[in-house]
Amino acid sequence: MLEQLAQLETEALQSLEEARTPEDLDRWYHAYLGRKGALTAILRSVGSLPPEERPTVGQRANEIKRRLEAAYNARAEVVRQDQLARELEAGALDVTLPGRPVGPGHLHITTRTLRQIYAIFAEMGFQVYEARDVETDEMNFGLLNMPPHHPAREMWDTFWITDDVLLRTHTSPGQIRVMRERYPEPIRVILPGKCYRYEQITARSEHQFFQVEGLAVGRHITMTDLIGTLTAFARRFYGAERRIRIRGSYFPFTEPSIEADIDCILCGGKGCRVCKYSGWLEIAGAGMVHPVVLSNGGYDPDEWSGFAFGLGVERPAMLKYGIDDIRLFYSNDLRFLHQF
Ligand code: DAH
Repeated sequence: MLEQLAQLETEALQSLEEARTPEDLDRWYHAYLGRKGALTAILRSVGSLPPEERPTVGQRANEIKRRLEAAYNARAEVVRQDQLARELEAGALDVTLPGRPVGPGHLHITTRTLRQIYAIFAEMGFQVYEARDVETDEMNFGLLNMPPHHPAREMWDTFWITDDVLLRTHTSPGQIRVMRERYPEPIRVILPGKCYRYEQITARSEHQFFQVEGLAVGRHITMTDLIGTLTAFARRFYGAERRIRIRGSYFPFTEPSIEADIDCILCGGKGCRVCKYSGWLEIAGAGMVHPVVLSNGGYDPDEWSGFAFGLGVERPAMLKYGIDDIRLFYSNDLRFLHQF
């Protein structure tokens, strides 16, 4: 009898392994543990055994019953999980649905604007030079004629990385890098790149934005070259009818310094909300490269002269395309990006 029980257990466990569906499980249960199951039959027959065999056989049969029940529960769980996975798979993959088209994508509005700027300056003989985003205090300020504690440093709220390493607050430090690399060649470059300022983010100002710096160094460069270059740029970028206005200004790295405005592209100079009723829009800070900056770049200011300018990139794009919030440039919202 004990042998028969052991054999029954082995056989039952083997066939349980083969159960794949809830129906298989039911059939198995009926065959072994159900009312008319094989093990139930043995348990029932214990009473008719000779008295000395009853305890051992009864005990063994009950042990096997417990083990088979545990095995059944475990197997039932596996079958349930498998079936769930199959159902999910079948439901999630409807092969009759048409595919979702993947759009080819296109260049970001900032990249497109930068490329327009490059093309215009390329026609005037300017090369593109890329400087670095992480700069030293010396490059970003010191060599641009702002020694430590110079009050003009306050014009740029700065993200400091260490005491003397920072995220560039403007593209101007690139001027020093190009000069040191190109000396004694004449220079005509634009330096595009991202700048960073520790500023409150609003619809009008971001803590990251692009600038395009311009630098020309040569033997007979004058303020008229600068004004001519900016005028040519403004007319190619904003429209041939643009008028330009030059105002005196101050930057530590230029002398004299100017700011260039164009007549408002929305109202043509009559005055509107965009130009704050002045009729003019500022497009660049600029000036003649300061003699100290020329010498810091390795160029003798008695022999060489140069002009420099700094243009925004997002602001002009905002004006041109009527975008009223600079944060959209960095929010990666496809509904915005798809419009350009
Ligand atoms: N670096 C200045 C800024 O970020 C902009 C600028 C002004 C650049 C005058 C120049 C310049 O090259 O000559 O505010």
